[in-house]
Amino acid sequence: MRASAKRPPIRLAVFASGTGTNFQAILNAIQAGRLSAQVVLCVSDRPTAGALERARRHGIPTAVLSPKDYPSPEAFGEALLDLLRTHHVELVALAGYLKKIPDNVVAAYRNRILNIHPSLLPAFGGPGMYGRHVHEAVLHYGVRWTGATVHLVDEVYDHGPIVLQEPVPVLPDDTPETLAARVLEVEHRLYPQALQLFAEGRIKIDGRRVRILPPPPENHHA
Ligand code: GRF
Repeated sequence: MRASAKRPPIRLAVFASGTGTNFQAILNAIQAGRLSAQVVLCVSDRPTAGALERARRHGIPTAVLSPKDYPSPEAFGEALLDLLRTHHVELVALAGYLKKIPDNVVAAYRNRILNIHPSLLPAFGGPGMYGRHVHEAVLHYGVRWTGATVHLVDEVYDHGPIVLQEPVPVLPDDTPETLAARVLEVEHRLYPQALQLFAEGRIKIDGRRVRILPPPPENHHA
């Protein structure tokens, strides 16, 4: 997919609680010209998150905010909204972010917050289904296929409309670690693709269904 020549890069904030390999995949896609975005802010709830270090290396502004430092989810949401507005953020990508996005942020950025989840939603999602727990549950249940899902964030965990999904087979000798690694490889490809669709304005949301519009005609006078 080519980055669109017509629109300015979309102003993206990435929220991450962990090591941030998905964040890194987003940065790599931008650098490679596969994603027309500028990461203008990296938010974490944990001062030691690896994602913050990656942001600093790229000269991206960082912020650490934890809901426990605020009297209510609304107050936490207001603090997040202040940051998002200060940095003129257009799109938010949750990349291994483990806190609930407050309802006032979801409302202000309706259909402009994305999350990546390491299963084929609606299977193996919801509260408590994060990280290793997802892959353990997949193996325990014995499904033959798992995968990755990029979806919009609404008020309910792992529930918003689905943008892209890709299946990954569960192999007989898989452990939570081997499965997580194969799913993660897919995530690193899928997330930048989904973000690029937003950057190109090719996403139309119709209830729970997300339509992907065809790419604009190639611009030949460049
Ligand atoms: C990924 O598996 C993602 O799907 C989930 O959290 C994990 C984050 O990994 N939401 P990383 O920090 O991007 O490496």
